[in-house]
Amino acid sequence: AKLGEETILRGAGGETHQVAEGEVPVLTTQQGVPVADDQNSLKVGARGPTLLEDFHFREKLFHFDHERIPERVVHARGFGAHGFFETYKPLSDLTAADLFQRKGERTPVFVRFSTVAGNKGSPDVARGFAVKFYTRNGNWDLVGNNIPIFFIQDAIKFPDLVHAAKQEPDRGFPQAQTAHDNFWDFISLSPEATHMALWIMSDRTIPRSFRFMEGFGIHTFRLVNAEGRSTYVKFHWKPKLGLQSVVWNEAVKINGADPDYHRRDLWNAIEAGDFPEWELGMQLFDDAFADQFPFDVLDATKIIPEEVLPVRRVGRLVLDRNVDNFFAETEQVAFCTQNIVPGIDFTNDPLLQGRNFSYLDTQLKRLGSPNFTHIPVNAAKVEVNNFQQDGHMAMRNPRGRANYEPNSWGAAGGPRESRERGFRSFAAEEAGPKRRMRAELFADHYSQARQFYISQTETEQTHIKNAFVFELSKVETPAIRARMVSHLRHVDEDLANRVADGLGLADLPPAAEPARPVVKDLAP
Ligand code: HEM
Repeated sequence: AKLGEETILRGAGGETHQVAEGEVPVLTTQQGVPVADDQNSLKVGARGPTLLEDFHFREKLFHFDHERIPERVVHARGFGAHGFFETYKPLSDLTAADLFQRKGERTPVFVRFSTVAGNKGSPDVARGFAVKFYTRNGNWDLVGNNIPIFFIQDAIKFPDLVHAAKQEPDRGFPQAQTAHDNFWDFISLSPEATHMALWIMSDRTIPRSFRFMEGFGIHTFRLVNAEGRSTYVKFHWKPKLGLQSVVWNEAVKINGADPDYHRRDLWNAIEAGDFPEWELGMQLFDDAFADQFPFDVLDATKIIPEEVLPVRRVGRLVLDRNVDNFFAETEQVAFCTQNIVPGIDFTNDPLLQGRNFSYLDTQLKRLGSPNFTHIPVNAAKVEVNNFQQDGHMAMRNPRGRANYEPNSWGAAGGPRESRERGFRSFAAEEAGPKRRMRAELFADHYSQARQFYISQTETEQTHIKNAFVFELSKVETPAIRARMVSHLRHVDEDLANRVADGLGLADLPPAAEPARPVVKDLAP
């Protein structure tokens, strides 16, 4: 029916009833029972009481009452779209990963951009860049950010970082982007976060929109070829439109005027057929190359400079389809660093190792059932065969008699292992005592922060200084301000001086005790 042409009836109380006719379907309950009246609950007489036997009314309220699911514990606010990844050239010398074997191969993808600390209702200044590749050999998730490094080196600190960044527990504010004592307290007590602090105070990480945002897998991963040879890899996403940022004042205005600015921009571009693109880049290296650095390539607070190791572009990502349903797709999508495919493998990066546990664990709670892989946006686009069964919302189960293996039922016995096609972990040699400590090569927290700072133009350096002054001036505890400046003295004396001046500190605080290796032999 055309807009405004349908039959409208008026009820006794003047209420509007729009009736099903022509192609307009009949409203039903969840049980498929046609509904005669959706405007009035069932009552005794004209003025009630309302009857408990009104199953339509009760079902409608029951369902509404349970609409909310827990929001993501981090990256709660996000926006997703569908598209494809196209491989430029076969990479079989480097990896057996199926999606990289054929020139021009297109692999469907789902991408979700997200903010990190803000709750679901917070503004849109993005950081997260998560990509799910639905490959012919199962799903591979590259769950990255728009910054090539991270705050912390070991996943055991993640709950502390996130607690410090989110609302303070007694008052329930401030939310996300605004500065506060807890956040800077944690950062200033965690020298490993200095490099990241410089990035987040810079223009670099306030994207103009998703379409102008870079992405990084951050950790060092492995590519493994068919012969079992491993090559280290760092993943990069390079926007075809180039990297563009807004300055702080612009971001504040945009978020104030339109907190949905980024998602609207992406939605509109895709609707208009102006499909945003990124190139996937790889920095590839071996152990000998890794050993040259004074830092550990397993330390997620470090980059490998692109001047030293150029990024090789291996394919392009195109987003060409908006979601049909925000909740079903963008909210229910479950990315997990643990989702890798044959030809790709993990390293011992202690942040990555922790992430591999955390995502699956949180998603069980968030999505309510171990069967969230049955939701279409999470389902592999290949046949899934195993003996896992039942549970809430199960949409598929083992077929036939066998729900275990080994079994005696031959071809009727269900799926079997495959030595040739199955995932096999890279046989890395590991040895050493069990203990709680970080490798000594993780201990330099300032050199790359300095490198980042001096790589910025004078204007950008001024913005970094202004951002530190702006943020730290909202910190009420003088010792936290001073502690932060004491780290900046290792980054750049001029920066430290200017921030101290901006904060009105009477004296320049002494430089922080430079990072040293963590005390040895702390008992596990
Ligand atoms: C969610 C990135 C570190 C735990 C996310 C998302 C991104 C992301 C992009 C949102 C995914 C989506 O759109 O659904 C990163 C990056 C990290 C990092 C780049 C560092 C390199 C960690 C660590 C932990 C962690 C160390 C815990 C040990 C989580 C959890 C979620 C999440 C629990 C919510 C997942 C969900 O509810 O589906 N992360 N993260 N992250 N991250 Fe991380």
